[in-house]
Amino acid sequence: MTTVFTGSSLNDDDRRDLVYRGDVFVYSATSASAELVLFARELIEEAFGGLDPETAQHEMDVERFAGLLADLKPRFIHHPQCKKLLPLILEEVGCSLDKTYFDVPRLRTSTSHDYLTSGISYAFHPHRDCWYSAPFNQINWWMPIYPVVPENVMAFHTRYFDQPVANGSTRYDYAKWNATSRHTAARHIHSDSREQPKPEEEVELDPQVRIVPEAGGFMLFSGAHLHSTVPNTSGRTRFSIDFRTVHIDDVRARRGAVNVDAACTGTTLRDFRRCADLAPMPEELALEYEAEALTRARQASEPLRS
Ligand SMILES: [Fe+2]
Repeated sequence: MTTVFTGSSLNDDDRRDLVYRGDVFVYSATSASAELVLFARELIEEAFGGLDPETAQHEMDVERFAGLLADLKPRFIHHPQCKKLLPLILEEVGCSLDKTYFDVPRLRTSTSHDYLTSGISYAFHPHRDCWYSAPFNQINWWMPIYPVVPENVMAFHTRYFDQPVANGSTRYDYAKWNATSRHTAARHIHSDSREQPKPEEEVELDPQVRIVPEAGGFMLFSGAHLHSTVPNTSGRTRFSIDFRTVHIDDVRARRGAVNVDAACTGTTLRDFRRCADLAPMPEELALEYEAEALTRARQASEPLRS
């Protein structure tokens, strides 16, 4: 069962426990999240010149649109303003700045009617972030920049939270992906040949849960949830921000969601920085997680013994 909490005043320790069990938390815009969204809008609107960013796809050829995003997205991701505002948002909803680590926020787009669904505007098939070397205590945060509707958000396939899905994570290694595929996103305009971990059995997409936060509002959920980009039929491009956090005590204690089916190698832990001072994740933890992932992958590939 997945419970959706709105505007909860639970403390962060209790909230994380529930997130690791599959619950989802939704919050209205805070003053820092509203500021982040306004900042994102400024960058987006400047990039699109006089065009309305949500409908510009109807007036531009797709190569130009992809080129524009390829320039815009990294500018947002690495902007110092984001590193300043993200910890403020986390603090506003009760996260400890000394114990919480975050990675850079991504600017995501979902275009309408399959205009651009690969590369720089990839439409995510059903996946768990844990298939992509995320730790099982990763919490995902998702925030729309402009108002969204059920036809252009993301979906949770909640019944699979504790149910395995055959998948290709066994062929995914985070270090290899970084070295070979990550930086080629903008080249994939009409199709995406980069191998990504996908379900390798029929997944029942329905029933599914779609949450529609207000612009600048946000939700947080376990990276172990099976989730996907919904086919955008809204007529408008969706712009959203997502980022991830981990709590260092949970990383050390191996406290998090249960692994039901991930067998990838590598870890994304080195991407995380401490909110208080941007200190990196201790290297020994990343090394331990890599070693544990390797053991898991070997066990998963061992033939079943009778
Ligand atoms: Fe994801």
